[in-house]
Amino acid sequence: MSEPAIPLHDLHPEPDDFRSEVMDGLRASPKTLPCKYFYDERGSQLFDQICEADEYYPTRTEVQILRDHADELGAALGPECAVVEFGSGSSTKTHLLLRALTEPVAYVPVDISREHLMQAARRLAMAFPDLPVRPVCADFTGELSLPALAREPRRTIVFFPGSTIGNFALEPRRTLLARIARLTGPGGGLLIGIDLKKDSATLEPAYNDRAGITRDFNLNLLHRINRELDGDFDTDSFTHSAFYNQDQGRIEMHLVSGAEQTVSIGDDSVAFEKGESIRTECSYKFAVDEFGALASEAGFRLEATFSDPLQRFAVLWLETQA
Ligand code: AVJ
Repeated sequence: MSEPAIPLHDLHPEPDDFRSEVMDGLRASPKTLPCKYFYDERGSQLFDQICEADEYYPTRTEVQILRDHADELGAALGPECAVVEFGSGSSTKTHLLLRALTEPVAYVPVDISREHLMQAARRLAMAFPDLPVRPVCADFTGELSLPALAREPRRTIVFFPGSTIGNFALEPRRTLLARIARLTGPGGGLLIGIDLKKDSATLEPAYNDRAGITRDFNLNLLHRINRELDGDFDTDSFTHSAFYNQDQGRIEMHLVSGAEQTVSIGDDSVAFEKGESIRTECSYKFAVDEFGALASEAGFRLEATFSDPLQRFAVLWLETQA
């Protein structure tokens, strides 16, 4: 039996300009690279392995929260929700949410990669044959419109798991929250996973796993530049560094040059001092009240907080006024 085709709402996102974003970052002082480029095929595999590492608590903790609080979640969000998911990479979490909900009217994954999006949409449609799946190909950090739905939802909710919001600095975070509030409209809501502020003795090992998976994940960015942009990074001369920046409330990942050297990338070149670093990721950690206050600027009210017994991670339910 052939499966019915899944209609794609294609907003034709501008493809990323990897080369110019890399060069902008490496010409800046201090040097940076955008963390969104970690996720090529190899990087996505490594990220999946990070999520399985003993020291990396966020993924398994969030999954456990969704399992343990499924009934309360279903009650808080209510029946006949349209679920818009930002990103389409988290099938376990999506399944748990959709199973927790009473009569969801549609599932709308949003992803910039058409291929990942359609793969995830097909998987979901197989698992929930009665649920309309309406994928949107778009950059969720930009303006977004939703496809028309056959059944009018009682409310539209955005599901944004994984503490991906932690990769956004304060201003872009404000902008994104305001956009989500506009997208879900009055009476809508946001179910979001955030990693909580905690002891650096727990935070730092999560980004410095003993098996070295996070190191390989970080260094893969240089391999990717070598492969795709004709770079000649000597990846052995850069070391992984990850630490909690207490003042900023964020984990920072860096790649540190072990030597004074010049690296070429296509026709460009970049000079490094010995010990100079490239900051490759910021992963902000939040207090529940701090995040609630920020979300309230966008018109959200914190209605429920779901957490684990050790309060390492939280899933927040935020509503806009009807
Ligand atoms: C995908 C942003 C949640 O910050 O923990 C994991 C990415 N980087 N290990 C995080 C990541 C290094 C992750 N997020």
